Amino acid sequence: ASRAPFSRLEDFESLAEKRLPSDVWEYYSFPSCSGFTLQENKRAFQRYRLLPRVLRDVSGVDTAATVLGSRLDMPVAISPTAHHSLAHPDGEKATAKGAASANTAFVVSSFANYSLEDIAQSAPQGVRWFYLIPQNDPARTEELLRRAESAGYTAIWLTVDLPRFGFQNRRDSRIESAEGKRFPNLTFDNAPSDVRSSEFSAYLNDSVKQPITWDDVVWLRKNTQLKIVLKGILSAEDAKEAVKVGVDGICVSNHGGRQLDGVPASIDALPDVVRAVAGKAEVYVDGGVRSGADVLKALALGARCVFVGRPVLWGLACDGAEGVHQVLQLLKEQLNLAMAQAGCSRVSDIKPSLVVHESYYLR
Ligand code: FNR
Repeated sequence: ASRAPFSRLEDFESLAEKRLPSDVWEYYSFPSCSGFTLQENKRAFQRYRLLPRVLRDVSGVDTAATVLGSRLDMPVAISPTAHHSLAHPDGEKATAKGAASANTAFVVSSFANYSLEDIAQSAPQGVRWFYLIPQNDPARTEELLRRAESAGYTAIWLTVDLPRFGFQNRRDSRIESAEGKRFPNLTFDNAPSDVRSSEFSAYLNDSVKQPITWDDVVWLRKNTQLKIVLKGILSAEDAKEAVKVGVDGICVSNHGGRQLDGVPASIDALPDVVRAVAGKAEVYVDGGVRSGADVLKALALGARCVFVGRPVLWGLACDGAEGVHQVLQLLKEQLNLAMAQAGCSRVSDIKPSLVVHESYYLR
């Protein structure tokens, strides 16, 4: 594996901004509404302080973790994001390669531009999970499930903070570059070909189940042996409900500030969810993770794994599979160093006492 040429994830961000057409850059970057939640995701990490332990033997730090039954080189993996072909012609095939070469997992979005099968084939040894969008016709949802199962996806993710489709902000409708792109894990034969057209929006509105409810989670539990993760939970009450219906994982997320504006930073919502779940499911977090120290804070606050969305798109835009690899490798090196500096040799050494909220010091 080659070394990352950059020392901060933000270096990839600046280069991606220069490389990408402005409409794509805006589509990837922009939040919904005022952007309060997007800003808060990053600010919130800065409000936690690390309290390292010293004089421990950290000569052999190991960042490995087991997530949803898969052994990963680090507790950092890739959140589902749409439209990777806008960043690189190889789209999700490149992302899958980058993830596999860093030995971590990739959640493929229903809005991927390549098929589940093509993505699997491009990185057969990679750990892959699928964010599925339930269809109005259950036979079609089953078809998607069977495809995911036979292509070696080992978990189904349901995004639950999206009760209604449609454009979240005005930028979505203006991605001129989207011409010719397809969503082969979402649409069926009769879909209009231009994903930017109003006909396409109408097709999606007719074919996709909106809103999904707890009944859909129960249906899914009955219809697949794969692990199930709900992404987009922020409250302890919903987390308890999720445990009741038997999910395997919960990803505390506000969709990277792209859904309801004004919700808390996901890192602030994490501890209550962890308490409510009480070990009965794995709990993850995404939103605003930009360094190894951020990862360390999230793990100390109870996350089993941390996910990144935009940083992977930046890597993809900078250098395809290699760029994705470099972003992940940089996070791994930063986490390794942060663990050593905090006195942790193993991920299991990362305890809640390692992190303190700033309000403690400002009393
Ligand atoms: C997303 N996100 C997202 N989430 C999801 O469940 N399904 C999806 O198709 C998408 N698509 C998508 C596109 C783009 C361009 C972005 C930036 C985000 C949200 C994503 O999974 C994740 O929650 C956030 O990106 C995490 O925040 P950071 O890491 O981008 O700060």
